[in-house]
Amino acid sequence: MALKKVGILTGGGDCSGLNAVIRAVTRAAVIRHGAEVVGFENGFEGLVFDRTTRLSTGNTKDILTLGGTILGTTNKGNPFAYRERDADGNIVETDRSAEAVATFRRHGLDCLFVVGGEGTLELGYKFTPLGVPVIGIPKTIDNDLHKTDYTFGYQTAVEVACEALDRLQTTGRSHQRVMILEVMGRNAGWIALEAGIGGGAHIILIPEIPYRIENVIRKIQLRAKGGSPFSIIMVAEGALEEGGGAVVAESGTGRLQGVEKLGGVGFYLAERIKQHIDLEVRTTVLGHIQRGGTPCAFDRVLGTRLGSRAVEAAAAGDFGVMVALDTPDVVLVPLKDLAGKVRTVPVDHQLIRTAESIGINMGRESM
Ligand code: F6P
Repeated sequence: MALKKVGILTGGGDCSGLNAVIRAVTRAAVIRHGAEVVGFENGFEGLVFDRTTRLSTGNTKDILTLGGTILGTTNKGNPFAYRERDADGNIVETDRSAEAVATFRRHGLDCLFVVGGEGTLELGYKFTPLGVPVIGIPKTIDNDLHKTDYTFGYQTAVEVACEALDRLQTTGRSHQRVMILEVMGRNAGWIALEAGIGGGAHIILIPEIPYRIENVIRKIQLRAKGGSPFSIIMVAEGALEEGGGAVVAESGTGRLQGVEKLGGVGFYLAERIKQHIDLEVRTTVLGHIQRGGTPCAFDRVLGTRLGSRAVEAAAAGDFGVMVALDTPDVVLVPLKDLAGKVRTVPVDHQLIRTAESIGINMGRESM
């Protein structure tokens, strides 16, 4: 079908490569179909409140390498349970999905491209039975989406985390310290695992393998005895000690976003290590640096491939799907297969076997 007018929004936490997708969708829609492209501002909020930006090949021409998203984003704008504060300061939830559907219709759109992670894609899918033809485009630095080999934004985050480890290696070795790097990823350890291997970490702790502090200490001591009184630990923000829970920086109840914020495990771990050994321990929390800035080449190319394929899918009338990388192809998978699922690292994954085979301690008895 010939596309006349399409809409796009970016939702959830930002990551590098979002603008590459916006540019690809816009260019493919304009160049192949002569279509108009409407960008909704700040995720689903733009759809609810009808806040838009007209996208063209002109105003997207310089954004391929730009971090963030020119459309803006938010991870607190669920239109089916929109959270805001009432006059007394209490958080209240309202269903504003009808306003979002009305905006979609008012603009006379052929389809809506929803660029986001698991939460945003699930919201997009909920609009399908309401008569909004949706195509999902997977993004997140966490790489925790099912049915796609990689999400864009992830490789850039791995590069950033890996470079941080390189820098911690030299200062840690100079001072004979235990250096801890805490990285993002929520309940998935992909960033910690790949960047940890790439950056030569001696210990990698991920949420999927609850760690025992004795194993961590043993590895540090072994290294010290062998003449290397410094160690590098990569810890995922969702990592947990056996028998304990993840370290939470802020609970979800008081937040408009409604989900708890992880963070602080690096400092917790430092205290645990200091209870057992006398080496100096320092913690670095990489935080949102992993999400900002220029996308690496892989993410630029992946974002462009996904955006272009999404427009092809729209022209073919394939809706209710997500474009996904199934190397070497970009394929379509039903959005319903993803709902509520998060792809964590399988504990027997080849990357874990690789790490352990070269002596990296994963917080468990080495296998
Ligand atoms: O899902 C992406 C992510 O960066 C997670 O890795 C992290 O836990 C979370 O978002 C941080 O969210 P916020 O931007 O709300 O602090």
